[in-house]
Parts: sequence; C-alpha cells; structure tokens
Amino acid sequence: MEAQTAYPRTLNGKRIVVLGGTSGMGFAAAEMAAREGAAIVVASSRREHIDRAITRLPKGTEGYTIDLSNEEHVRDFFTHLGAFDHLVFTAGDMLQRSELSETNVEQARHFFDLRFWGAFMAAKYGSSHIRPGGSIVLTSGIAGRRPHKGGRLGQASVVPSRH
Ligand SMILES: NC(=O)c1ccc[n+]([C@@H]2O[C@H](COP(=O)([O-])OP(=O)(O)OC[C@H]3O[C@@H](n4cnc5c(N)ncnc54)[C@H](OP(=O)(O)O)[C@@H]3O)[C@@H](O)[C@H]2O)c1
Repeated sequence: MEAQTAYPRTLNGKRIVVLGGTSGMGFAAAEMAAREGAAIVVASSRREHIDRAITRLPKGTEGYTIDLSNEEHVRDFFTHLGAFDHLVFTAGDMLQRSELSETNVEQARHFFDLRFWGAFMAAKYGSSHIRPGGSIVLTSGIAGRRPHKGGRLGQASVVPSRH
C-alpha cells in the first residue's frame, strides 16, 4: 500500500480566530490551522507579541490588540471582525499558586476576569458571527481533575468549562 505523504488541507477557505494566539498553545493552534489552509486571526493584549506572531505565520494573517477581560473590547472586536468559522480561546495568565490565606483577592479577581469571564464574553459576542458548521473551543487544563496544593484558583476556573 502506498504511504500517505500529504494530509488533506481540511481547513481550506475557513477563517479561524485564536484569542491568545500569539504564544504558547494558541500560537501552536494557529500555526497548525494555517498549515491546514485556514486564514488566521490572532488577538492578544500586547502589540509586540502580535507583531512577532504575525511574522511567523503566513502572509495575510490578521492580528488585533485586545484586552479579553474588557467587555467593550471583546464586543467591539467581534463587531469589527465580521463573519468567521471557528473560535479558539487559549488566553490566560500564568497560574499563581498560593495558600488561600495568602491569596490576593484583586489578583484572584483578575485571573477570573480573563480566564473565565473572558472566555464567557468571547462565546457570547463571537457566536453570532460564526458561520454554519463552525465551532467554539475553550481550553482549560487538568487542574480541575488533578488539584495541586495551592492551586485553588486554577482548579476553580477550569471546572465550569468541562461541562
Ligand atoms: N501550556 C500548558 O501546558 C497549559 C496547560 C494547562 C493550562 N494552561 C493555561 O492555559 C493558558 C494559556 O497557556 P499558554 O501556555 O498558551 O500561555 P502563554 O504562552 O502565556 O499564552 C497566553 C496568551 O494569552 C494572551 N493574553 C494574556 N492576557 C491577555 C489579555 N488580558 N487579553 C488578551 N490576551 C491575553 C497572551 O498574549 P499577550 O501577553 O500579548 O496578551 C498570550 O497570547 C494559561 O492560563 C495557562 O495557565 C496551559
């Protein structure tokens, strides 16, 4: 049997929006989707990260500066963007581990503003722009299933996205 040397470009003609797509898991997802033929949109909060990501992705990739914890930014972003096919949300801060008694409430709130409410707002404002047959992927982590000492915030933020 002849070996299969090339994969079909299954995302040809699709437009994929990766929120948090300028580094880490989001960038990897954007890169892979681009290889599959998709037109990519990446968005994150720092211009220099967007510029760096765009130079590493195919010509024509769009990049936008947005604070995903800010409702106005999220709403305006999707209004400006128009129609697309798939939405991926990977944006997040580094998980801070600390004892509950030592946890700074403001930092804890900020963590949820991005990781939980940011994803919520992206789904809320993005979903009406998704073409038929599209999808929304929200990423989390294993903290909900395998809790670590001092990892309550991460644990609490990922549990809702598993259901
Ligand atoms: N990597 C893993 O194995 C793993 C496993 C489980 C869970 N996680 C969690 O998943 C999340 C992403 O992980 P990662 O490794 O891909 O992290 P990463 O490389 O730091 O990527 C985070 C992305 O989110 C963006 N971002 C951060 N704050 C933002 C904001 N307010 N608005 C818009 N974009 C924002 C960052 O860009 P800017 O700095 O330009 O905003 C960046 O593009 C983290 O919360 C991490 O704890 C990661």
